Amino acid sequence: MEWKAMKIRIVSLFFLAGVFYGAAVFGQSEGEKLFKQICVACHTIGQGKLIGPDLAGVQQRRSEDWLTRFIRSSQTVIQSGDPVATALFEEYNRIPMPDNNYSDDQIRAIISYIAENSPGGPGAAETGGISPAPGRPLSEAGEANIQAGKNLFEGRTRLNNGGPTCNSCHNVKNDALMGGGALAKDLTDAYSRLGEAGVKAIVGNPPFPAMKQAYQNRPLTETEVFDLTAFLQHADRVRDTQQAKNYRTQLLFSGLGGALVLLLLFGGFWTRSKRGSVNRKIYDRQIKTI
Ligand code: HEC
Ligand code: HEC
Repeated sequence: MEWKAMKIRIVSLFFLAGVFYGAAVFGQSEGEKLFKQICVACHTIGQGKLIGPDLAGVQQRRSEDWLTRFIRSSQTVIQSGDPVATALFEEYNRIPMPDNNYSDDQIRAIISYIAENSPGGPGAAETGGISPAPGRPLSEAGEANIQAGKNLFEGRTRLNNGGPTCNSCHNVKNDALMGGGALAKDLTDAYSRLGEAGVKAIVGNPPFPAMKQAYQNRPLTETEVFDLTAFLQHADRVRDTQQAKNYRTQLLFSGLGGALVLLLLFGGFWTRSKRGSVNRKIYDRQIKTI
């Protein structure tokens, strides 16, 4: 028996176990953590365009200084007239990339994470690139998912972790829906603009400060993200057949319903107050004194 070979094998086994253990315990690097928290909603590394460009090899295309400024505030770079940034902004349908209040070190960590996972980088061979977790494909969504998503969107069903309903900030033009808020973008055609991966990534992991804050400690579940995406896809598909006038009739009906409820309440109050009227009290008192 070749004891020496055996020993090497045992030692390397321990070594490997150590590496896996270390990876499991220490988890992600700072760069990976930030990338997966924010950037992956809009960017892949080596898996193609999402909402923004594929970032594979971006550290070779652009200087570190440019990347740092762009990642911190893309709109500042664009407004300074930078031709590369302006062209990118136009190419990507003028979708503004949100600002990030990161330190130089944090941005450096993100850039090295991108470099490691770009083709040819040490991580890329293992991971094959980075993209948002695909989850269940939307092609499996049915009517029940659309309905569930609609109910979540307008708050008929509460979100599992207690986050605010979507329509407190967003509107979607849809006959089946009550109107929504105007604090953020109308989402009627969000699906066309962002695609399945984009919508899922944004809803599951919002990169926009106001929305991020709303769901930071109250994340949506995977099922909720799936159902909401199914609803947004549906709303987008049928958007040309959705009429503002139906919405108005719906409002009228809910108005009538409200009036009816008020009438009933008021009616009940009225009869009760008549029963307990001042005259009645005086009358009762007089009866008693007799
Ligand atoms: C809401 C979507 C969104 C998020 C989140 C986002 N980006 Fe972007 N990013 C874009 C878009 C869109 C562009 C294209 C330029 C534009 O429209 O301003 C872009 C462009 C870029 C570019 C320039 C790419 C090139 O080819 O030169 C870099 C670098 C970049 N993003 C890095 C990041 C990093 C790092 C993060 C995470 C901290 C991030 N982005 C988060 C949407 C996003
Ligand atoms: C506190 C307000 C708020 C809530 C609640 C909220 N969002 Fe947002 N959302 C925003 C903001 C702000 C943006 C960034 C775009 C903008 O400025 O309108 C955004 C962007 C989006 C986008 C990308 C829009 C686009 O076309 O670029 C999607 C999709 C989206 N939200 C879906 C949802 C869904 C689904 C919910 C419910 C789970 C939700 N949002 C709840 C504020 C909110």
